[in-house]
Amino acid sequence: MTTTDKYIAVFGDTHGHLRLMFQLCRLWQINNGVHLDGILQAGDLGFFPDVTKLDKATKRFARSDPEEFGFANYFRLPQPVRTDELLDRTLNGDPSSLETVRCNVVWCHGNHEDFAALEEVTCGSAFSPVDAFDRLYFLRSGETTDVAGVMIGAIGGAPEAYDVDRNDRSVFGRNVSYRAVQRLRRKSCDILLTHCAPRGIGGESDRFGSNLLRETVQEMQPVFQLYGHHSRPIPQSTIGRTQCVWLNDTNFSKTRDATYNGPLESGCMAIIRWRSEDDNELTVINDEWFRQTTGATWRHY
Ligand SMILES: [Fe+2]
Repeated sequence: MTTTDKYIAVFGDTHGHLRLMFQLCRLWQINNGVHLDGILQAGDLGFFPDVTKLDKATKRFARSDPEEFGFANYFRLPQPVRTDELLDRTLNGDPSSLETVRCNVVWCHGNHEDFAALEEVTCGSAFSPVDAFDRLYFLRSGETTDVAGVMIGAIGGAPEAYDVDRNDRSVFGRNVSYRAVQRLRRKSCDILLTHCAPRGIGGESDRFGSNLLRETVQEMQPVFQLYGHHSRPIPQSTIGRTQCVWLNDTNFSKTRDATYNGPLESGCMAIIRWRSEDDNELTVINDEWFRQTTGATWRHY
């Protein structure tokens, strides 16, 4: 590793498992001897500040997985429900320590978030933190931001309906927005962060991918297009020069007693090493420390 390389961690849907996401970042730093320069999260963050306003699917999952309440419990404004000493140390500890995660998270919206609360906390801005630590930066669909010298663009939401309304003015909501896509296409980015897959890159994207995203990637040709959302793995693929990479949920697999105490979901974390547009690589993490981290042990390291 050299100092001119930048390291950006990438996660798929977190659904509230934000403490786990930061713990994985901390463990990666300790095991690789370098601080991260950025963290990207591909939507379905689990932005539900009020646990009485969970959507139907989140309510169902939360019955067996209380970490789905992670945002309200540990991150919400103005005051989270609980404090967590490890999380506090990880985010606010000695900046020179590899145990401290210093960089911010940039995320796009998914299709399971509290959209009314998100609109309220961001006040319509293009780029804004949404949490009590000032670390979870929401990047609105159609907008770009610089992360460690790498330009990130965002398009949130699940695949649009086949007969998408091209007159709809909103950029915000459960589905990929035509207006947001049009807005982004006037800009350029190195990494396109989306919630769902472009259509036609294999697996369930052939039936359930987004046509608007496919057109966008074809036209913009970012180096990487990163996404989560889909529950079945979609193989890495390319559209022109763009490498399209699916990230699994940031969670543990269920054990036989139906608790989430198993190993980490494979493919839930990747690292992009970035030196330039022509010198970069994405690695899906499957190191020894990662394989040893389970739902029963993840807080013990
Ligand atoms: Fe989703």
